[in-house]
Amino acid sequence: MKKIAKISEVRKYVKNMKQKGKTVGFVPTMGYLHEGHLSLVDVAKAHADVVVMSIFVNPTQFGPNEDFDSYPRNIERDESLAQRRGVDAIFYPEVLEMYPGNDLTWVTVDKITNVLCGAKREGHFKGVTTVVTKLFNIVQPDVAVFGQKDAQQAAVITQMVNDLNMPVKIKIAPIVREKDGLAMSSRNVRLSDDQRQKALVLSRSLFSIENGLKNGRPLLEMINEAKNEIILTDGVELEYLEARSYPGLEPAIDLNGSCLIAVAARVGDVRLIDNIIVIG
Ligand code: PAJ
Repeated sequence: MKKIAKISEVRKYVKNMKQKGKTVGFVPTMGYLHEGHLSLVDVAKAHADVVVMSIFVNPTQFGPNEDFDSYPRNIERDESLAQRRGVDAIFYPEVLEMYPGNDLTWVTVDKITNVLCGAKREGHFKGVTTVVTKLFNIVQPDVAVFGQKDAQQAAVITQMVNDLNMPVKIKIAPIVREKDGLAMSSRNVRLSDDQRQKALVLSRSLFSIENGLKNGRPLLEMINEAKNEIILTDGVELEYLEARSYPGLEPAIDLNGSCLIAVAARVGDVRLIDNIIVIG
């Protein structure tokens, strides 16, 4: 596996692969890899000949009071996990390589970035769409893979790629969960045992909404019940639990077409998100 820190070098690597007639799959990450990230590698491998993974904790998508500094990092561990999963090259630039300090250009997507996480994390999606555009321009992949774990991010990236005619195919991979249901996240390591136990209320609520819907119960009734259960859980502070159309992210009042049920909550100082997509 190649380890590349410089933009010029990753460009050279990809150019060389393309000259050999190989297609390039791309998995952008912020590292501290877990099975969720690695499942994206499997999808990339199924759709492309070589897989490039980026590992970059992107400062522009963190607000001033967010966890950029405490975001978990361990490049040696990431390297070995990526290599074992069959990644061909990792791109892990320094912040100054990506943002030399003289940039004035942002990529923004309107409307669908103003709801859910976008309403709570000002500027977050502007940082995501800008860095993903930069990464796409640097790596120039044929296919890029994102996780449904960040369902709004997946909708925003898909919209951006369509709107700006970016020549990359987007694949969305399902959420990978721990055995007990907790959605895998790099931030889970920051939970104490007790907090981790309490965090299970999030996935449990989503699954009970899904079950209720299967039994014909009304969407809003299920959402309200789940909200109450989360609010009553000591140590868990609910940010939102909402049903929205997917990928348009309009408010949903009943099950009609593809519906995203998304939750965000703080457990101590760790912000967790989870979701399910149900089809009406
Ligand atoms: P990060 O949080 O590291 O996630 C990288 C990719 O892994 C995203 O597409 C995310 O949806 C996916 N992922 C994370 N947990 C997952 C899980 N449990 N199951 C399936 N997929 C999962 O998302 C980002 O980084 C950044 O915003 C990035 C796109 C890299 C831009 O900086």
